[in-house]
Amino acid sequence: MAELIAPHGGRLIDRELTGPAREEALKEARSLKAVPISNWSRSDLELIGIGAFSPLTGFQGKADYEAVLETMHLASGEVWTIPVTLPVAEDVAKSLREGEKVALVGEDDGVIYGTLEVTEVYPYDKRREAQAVFLTTDEAHPGVQRLYAREPYYVAGPITLLNRKQPEQFAEYYVDPKETRRIFAEVKGWRTVVGFQTRNPVHRAHEYIQKCALEIVDGLFLNPLVGETKADDIPADVRMRSYEVLLRHYYQPERVFLAVYPAAMRYAGPREAVFHALVRKNYGCTHFIVGRDHAGVGNYYGTYDAQKIFANFKPEELGIQPLFFENSFYCEKCDGMASEKTCPHPPEYRYILSGTKVRAILRSGEKPSPKFTRPEVAEVLVAGMAEVTQ
Ligand code: ADX
Repeated sequence: MAELIAPHGGRLIDRELTGPAREEALKEARSLKAVPISNWSRSDLELIGIGAFSPLTGFQGKADYEAVLETMHLASGEVWTIPVTLPVAEDVAKSLREGEKVALVGEDDGVIYGTLEVTEVYPYDKRREAQAVFLTTDEAHPGVQRLYAREPYYVAGPITLLNRKQPEQFAEYYVDPKETRRIFAEVKGWRTVVGFQTRNPVHRAHEYIQKCALEIVDGLFLNPLVGETKADDIPADVRMRSYEVLLRHYYQPERVFLAVYPAAMRYAGPREAVFHALVRKNYGCTHFIVGRDHAGVGNYYGTYDAQKIFANFKPEELGIQPLFFENSFYCEKCDGMASEKTCPHPPEYRYILSGTKVRAILRSGEKPSPKFTRPEVAEVLVAGMAEVTQ
């Protein structure tokens, strides 16, 4: 059997109950104080529960929160760049006691998703968090905007996952870290696996950097984020259809595994790139692709800031190896895909479209050039965008 990379912190966390233990815990949870949680927090709860956020066992307390903001590490010393916290309203915060167990209940649907043992409740400074995590306090930044709209206290403590939101579609692509690890090692026999994060359709540039990486590792883990994204990103179901068609026509099936990453997008650029890498290590990846402006938005981050941040960490504390790629494109002169690192030709030969431009093309019912997007993918996207704008 192929040997697996260790999860972050050394052990894959599993805080989900099943079977009679779950029934018992649910029964108890019905008698507990209900703390309403947003979709965002529900997805964090699930990711902690299934070990994607190992070594976290719950929502972060003040010591971890401070350490993450100030040092990009947990209080225990592991690298960690994004706070994972549970916001609650002031009245809820004031009603909670240390040591109390509470039920975490979906604010939209009233479902009990889990329980939390309260270790701490603390207020926080939103502008300070915004500056540390997003490197800006500008409300126009979608991550900052979400942070400013949050409830003003954090409640911390270990969680237990009791229910998951059932996906409406593409259920077969929801695969837990425990299972992806088994698949990589036992089914595929991969010793090295490169993880690819995306919140977009896979265009030619994405395909190019994935395949460049695949030349030096055994397998590709295509792991699109399908949790909350900003309103103008292409919806996850349309993207999923586009990934399926792309893989069918252009990838070696033995060498790629597609599963979703059911997390919310933070748009925190450099810090989120490190976070994305650590999470993919938990899913069993040994390598992780970081291209241009990873997890960026607008002009908040420099093109390669999400690569430069990795220099702050020792390779052994990351465990996973980042693979950096420069801005890639189709070049007429090269007559193929290339990057700033390999192509000597001037910009007029290069096909480069911004996300905004691509969405505008798709909305108008046009297909982007096959030099930018595979025709089969373009077809799915045009049809999908027509549904969305109907
Ligand atoms: S992200 O927010 O999930 O990072 P996106 O889906 O666009 O956005 O990017 C997925 C990955 O591909 C990221 O690592 C990003 O840096 C990289 N990437 C996207 N487009 C290019 C490109 N043209 N050249 C090089 N890397 C790219």
